[in-house]
Amino acid sequence: MAQSESQDTLRSNRRWPQNALFLVGFMGAGKTTVGQELARQLEWDFVDLDDRIVAAEGRSIAEVFAESGEPAFRKAESLALADVLAELRNGGRLIVALGGGAFVQPNNADAIRATGVPVVFLDAPVEELRRRCAPGGALRPLFQDQAAFSRLYDERKGSYLQADFCVNTAGRSVAAVVVEVLTLLGVRNS
Ligand code: S3P
Repeated sequence: MAQSESQDTLRSNRRWPQNALFLVGFMGAGKTTVGQELARQLEWDFVDLDDRIVAAEGRSIAEVFAESGEPAFRKAESLALADVLAELRNGGRLIVALGGGAFVQPNNADAIRATGVPVVFLDAPVEELRRRCAPGGALRPLFQDQAAFSRLYDERKGSYLQADFCVNTAGRSVAAVVVEVLTLLGVRNS
């Protein structure tokens, strides 16, 4: 991940594939909202991996967790990701928002990194992430009390930091975050 200014500069100057982008981060990071706006501006397709899982399973994420357990959900998630990676290979121009646990699974992260497509970690203080999730909390099986939510975030942060870029979303508008992502990647809608 880009920790220092020089690394940031190096990565910003790299010529990234101009056909796709993965958004990763914890629940409430804004992956879907930011991803939809990026896709709108770039006129690329937007993929929400959770939506793909719901479509493939014919039931909600909460139902998959409750009826089949988290391991079954992770299997469905990896299958959905494999489909998206095949679409990329077929020339799709995609912004892909991953669920909060997807990039934490080493097999998923390896498959994503092998594409060379940039990965952007959207982050915010964990208290803010939880506040953003609270209104629809019941829809997220892993939405928990602040202590457990923070613990899970801490466990996962090292994986998120394997992304190519980290963008802080705390207190910022979707528009501001989108501008930063486009600038970092040197992507232009042309
Ligand atoms: C999960 C996050 C959810 C969804 C599922 C599991 C996680 O996606 O994939 O509930 O493990 O953090 P969002 O990050 O979009 O809420």
